[in-house]
Amino acid sequence: MKGKEFIRFSLELNLFFGRIMKEHLIFMAIALPIINSDYILEADTLKRSLEELLMEVLSISKGNLSKESLDSGEFVTKYTLDAEKKVEDLYGICIDKELTKSTLDLTIEKEDHFYNFEGYVYDLNRRIINLLMDVIKFKEKVIDEVLKCELAIFMYPEMLEHILEEAKFYLKLLLDIQDKNITEEDILKREVFWNYIMEEHALFTLGLLDPSEEDLIKTAHELAKTFEELLKKTREADKDKACEISRGNLKATEGMKEFNTSAVKGILACEIKSLINPLLTDHLLREANRYIRILNEFLKEC
Ligand SMILES: [Fe+2]
Ligand SMILES: [Fe+2]
Repeated sequence: MKGKEFIRFSLELNLFFGRIMKEHLIFMAIALPIINSDYILEADTLKRSLEELLMEVLSISKGNLSKESLDSGEFVTKYTLDAEKKVEDLYGICIDKELTKSTLDLTIEKEDHFYNFEGYVYDLNRRIINLLMDVIKFKEKVIDEVLKCELAIFMYPEMLEHILEEAKFYLKLLLDIQDKNITEEDILKREVFWNYIMEEHALFTLGLLDPSEEDLIKTAHELAKTFEELLKKTREADKDKACEISRGNLKATEGMKEFNTSAVKGILACEIKSLINPLLTDHLLREANRYIRILNEFLKEC
């Protein structure tokens, strides 16, 4: 992969996952009790560094992204800004909302860029990789101490593992693209990863809803079951069944998207009782949107 394709792939990957990473740090920071103020500070510092790099990615993104990625709702949704404002008000953490506004303003219109643009993107990726390795170290340190019962955080250990998996997945993609060895990776392998992510999202939601939210709990439970089955099916499937499997995964993920969308709306409108902050539901929605785009892209070839 080189030239325009390398640039587009890098920018889209960083716009999606860079934001996901900084939100993981927000979720960690607001879930840590005050006795761990050094960890809160560390999460906040990493988050700020990610925001700076994301701003740099954004500054060169106009005109270099696909229409599909901009339409998918994987970078920001119409709820993101409100969710960020609410989380700032409720938890007192600072979130760079200019970043969100600029992302909402992205278009496919071309802008002139300076010489050796590809080299610049390569360098930017390298700097993101360095920061990402610090983020991974931080998450590992927290998980390790939580599992030894030496640190308290109001997050399930499974959710900490989940956000670590996402960081490692992002790192691997970045390293591959830098080495220019992005091959048409087996789509089913990627679907296994995303089905696992979707199943866990349903399980986390299930566990964070107020016990009185019986209908939503039931739906979350059904979604978790669906993705558990699809995960198994996808893992065992032969390559020649990829189209059929992907169609099934797409249908389920569209259901997930619908569920996430009503959760964001309900939580923002204060109509759902839960321990879920609005930015977390919006975050889950964007991950579903990204998966849907990957599936649709593949299904074009079917
Ligand atoms: Fe995530
Ligand atoms: Fe996730």
